Amino acid sequence: MFKVWNDSREAGMLDRFNQRGSSFAYIPEAPPARAVSVTMPVRLPSWDIRFGLPPIFEMNLPEGMLRERLRLTFAKATGTFDEFDLLGVVGRSQVGRIRYTGQREHLQEDVPFQSVDEILEHRRGGELFRYLMEKFAASSGISGVQPKILVRDEAAFSALNGSGQRFSESYRGATHIVKFWEQNQYPQLAANEYFCLEVARDCGLEVPPYRLSEDAQALVIDRFDLRSDGTYRGFEDFCVLNARRTDEKYRGSYETSILKRFTQFANSPHVVEDTERLFTLIALNCALRNGDAHLKNFGILYDDVQGEARLAPAYDLVTTSVYLPKDSMALTLNGTTRWPSLKELQRLGETRMGGSPARVGAILERIADAMSDVASAMRLYIKTHPEFQEVGVQMLTLWQAGIAGRRRGMAG
Ligand SMILES: Nc1ncnc2c1ncn2[C@@H]1O[C@H](COP(=O)(O)OP(=O)(O)OP(=O)(O)O)[C@@H](O)[C@H]1O
Ligand SMILES: [Mg+2]
Repeated sequence: MFKVWNDSREAGMLDRFNQRGSSFAYIPEAPPARAVSVTMPVRLPSWDIRFGLPPIFEMNLPEGMLRERLRLTFAKATGTFDEFDLLGVVGRSQVGRIRYTGQREHLQEDVPFQSVDEILEHRRGGELFRYLMEKFAASSGISGVQPKILVRDEAAFSALNGSGQRFSESYRGATHIVKFWEQNQYPQLAANEYFCLEVARDCGLEVPPYRLSEDAQALVIDRFDLRSDGTYRGFEDFCVLNARRTDEKYRGSYETSILKRFTQFANSPHVVEDTERLFTLIALNCALRNGDAHLKNFGILYDDVQGEARLAPAYDLVTTSVYLPKDSMALTLNGTTRWPSLKELQRLGETRMGGSPARVGAILERIADAMSDVASAMRLYIKTHPEFQEVGVQMLTLWQAGIAGRRRGMAG
């Protein structure tokens, strides 16, 4: 049985239920604001689920290599190793503000310290990667298939986000995400993501501070759910908002599971502005030929679970078609995962965002302009980083196709 904490306060208890399910019950004194998810209000009856964990508790479980690594390390001790066991390992340190401990334990986050500069300047590649995975795997309550860890470098965080604020002495939470890539499977993934994030920023989308290590082996990203006083904001991805399990992250449509769902939970006077950002992000994913824009790659952020929720900054943007030439979209648009034409995107913006034809057209042009600008920067980077040439040149070709038909091309 686990104790579930919300914003460092006790929220309830979570236990296995029947053969393969789980059950969560709020503590009787939990006020409505202690709700663990916008989808699970505080109530007297427990929230029971027949298979696995409720989506909000499953949300940050590592996938891919990190999960396999933790399984190999901890299965020896426990015999078997399921989602519940995994939550027991990484539950103390998680994205968002929910944490998990043993029934009688107190919350103690305690993520080891790691200088971000050291990662950025490091040139020994694989060795550093192995060291970091070993040291940080068990405090990395973060989802995703690509290998990644959560680390703590408070100084780097406050310097970069401009707050300059000191964290309290007792602060031990994670500040950054460090993403690596599988050498053989996804060459140059960090640089690929870096340039895609550059485009998002150039489009005017909110993006957390991110840096590429000198040897391009790692991408370091500031946590967008961390406040400058060291506390965390509520975060929920669209798997949770759609009441889907992680293995259903490729199920749904951009129209309903993303755009419509957002308006249902936004509860915010900024909903029009945020819907425009969301449309921009969807159209950008298409233009970048990112076939991995699934339900877990969009999220909301909030301070008060009953208050307004804003669209989370953009994250996990990659030109995946470099690695999967036949790649298509992760979710459907107009009932298909085929990349949409300019006309189809224009229609999506007019009908689902409610923008005027001119406004939608301007957004699509802005995306093309941003890609064109970043393409120039990428060409320069290729000149000094020949190891990026093959992937970089393919990205440029794919981007060209992604913005076909727009006023400004990518020549030059
Ligand atoms: N800057 C950030 N701050 C806080 N949480 C973040 C941030 N960026 C990503 N996340 C969270 O971490 C998760 C994993 O990150 P990300 O999507 O970048 O990894 P990935 O392995 O590339 O994912 P995928 O499996 O989709 O390929 C996201 O789904 C989101 O919940
Ligand atoms: Mg992702």
